[in-house]
Amino acid sequence: MREFDDKSVTEAVIGRLSDCDDARFKRVMTSLITHLHDFVREVKLTEPEWITAIEFLTAAGKTCTDKRQEFILLSDTLGVSVLVITLNHPAAHDSVESTVLGPFYWEGAPDLPRGANLAVGVKGEPAFYSGRVLAVDGQPLENALLDIWSGDGEGNYDMQMPEETGMKARGRIRTDAAGRYWFRSIRPTYYPVPTDGPVGRMLRRMGRHPYRPGHIHMIVSAPGYLPVTTHLFVAGSQYLDSDAVFGMKESLVAQFERHSPGVGPDGERMETPFYTVNYDFRLRPAGTAARIEP
Ligand SMILES: [Fe+2]
Repeated sequence: MREFDDKSVTEAVIGRLSDCDDARFKRVMTSLITHLHDFVREVKLTEPEWITAIEFLTAAGKTCTDKRQEFILLSDTLGVSVLVITLNHPAAHDSVESTVLGPFYWEGAPDLPRGANLAVGVKGEPAFYSGRVLAVDGQPLENALLDIWSGDGEGNYDMQMPEETGMKARGRIRTDAAGRYWFRSIRPTYYPVPTDGPVGRMLRRMGRHPYRPGHIHMIVSAPGYLPVTTHLFVAGSQYLDSDAVFGMKESLVAQFERHSPGVGPDGERMETPFYTVNYDFRLRPAGTAARIEP
């Protein structure tokens, strides 16, 4: 058949995959075409709406730079990122939960000794983080890596500050023989995802706020274990119940205990109030990931 109507076109497009020799790619594309066509039929997409969508995606692409990823933001705010993560890392009570990577990960943060202050020169209330990285059976994991990043105490990431050319509030810390880690940074606060681009316009059109509750990011990994991309959320932070990227998980909410000025956990005299937070990360052995069907 050479001519197609509004139903048969779907089968025709899928049929063009007959010579595709990658079974997984064929399955993904078949499903994508099926749902995309169903969506267009269901809403009876108009031509102005279609061109609006093309212009939106074009603008999203043009907004991306080496420091800004508008498509990850789009995926995050539509709940796709957390859906992918949840499918691939099903919640298990014995291991730390995953959540979104977000658009502000910057590969190559400096390796710092345990106890280092990641937030030298960064605005915000000091916070001392500590805990352990363990296997799910409780065995301490030596030399586990925490790749850590956050915004400052006003919710701004280094990548968002035009005057900042280097990394701020980022670092990589490894655990000791007892699986322990500790470092200093700031207590993160809630912040809006970037709203000056096409995703921001989409959120306003949807009547949505752009805020994320206060959190610090980390990727926790150890040889032989599944790495976990996760956050610690600040207990009591605003927007815990309406995270703009749907990434909030109760098991990742940590208590930040407030202390009056005095001697900090590292022995240094603190002239301002400071916080301490303790959290253990439990990792699953490699090979226990969700199975991807062909
Ligand atoms: Fe973040």
